[in-house]
Amino acid sequence: MRSTQRLDKLLAHAGWGTRSEIKKLVKRGAVTVNGRKVKDSGLQVDPYEDHIQVGSEPVDYKEFIYIMMNKPPGVISATEDVREKTVLDLLGPEASHFRVFPVGRLDKDTEGLLLLTNDGKLAHNLLSPKKEVPKTYFAEVEGIVTDEDRFAFSKGVSLDDGYVTLPAELVILNVDAAADKPLSKIELTIREGKFHQVKRMFQAVGKRVVYLQRISMGSLQLDSHLSPGGYRELTEKELDNLKHSSTE
Ligand code: URA
Repeated sequence: MRSTQRLDKLLAHAGWGTRSEIKKLVKRGAVTVNGRKVKDSGLQVDPYEDHIQVGSEPVDYKEFIYIMMNKPPGVISATEDVREKTVLDLLGPEASHFRVFPVGRLDKDTEGLLLLTNDGKLAHNLLSPKKEVPKTYFAEVEGIVTDEDRFAFSKGVSLDDGYVTLPAELVILNVDAAADKPLSKIELTIREGKFHQVKRMFQAVGKRVVYLQRISMGSLQLDSHLSPGGYRELTEKELDNLKHSSTE
């Protein structure tokens, strides 16, 4: 059964301002419900049944929002910070009023796929260690990444605190062994999310990650059209697939 809620609360959630601003809108006669001007901003409405308009604009009601961001380097994956710029500072008002939070963390210098949502259940499923949701990273690593590293990662490596990682898949894309400073390009898929995990896994085999970008999480792939700092809402298909990949 669907429930009703206060009109001012619904409009505030949909980005039409604070409750007092909405009260003013209602007073001005700018808000209609099913074609009738509303006088009371506390009116109970059914967001799925009633047709609500502000001026000539229909109110597009949604409870949850799901945003894919291409996180740039130099910002932190937090909701607020006194000193540092956060990923939320990159959002415009149309997205930020939903009180989204990042699903998991990327280091300040890590780039790439970051999901922002206000759907706590989906976030919980994606982050739950039990679900072992795969996350794939592209990395540039100083030195020559070898088949031995690939084998070691497939068995699990011991991190600096003694934790042994779950099996992970390493794909060696390119090794520039002839350069003054050899550099390897790789993709690594892990099914957990320990602090600095990718960097510490390479540290465990004596190597250093110099560039790190997340390219996928579950079924969700980073949209290559998003420039660093860019974001967009997930498509319905992406969301459906992601919900499935986090409940398997
Ligand atoms: N692993 C890391 O080392 N850093 C990240 O930001 C994500 C995974």
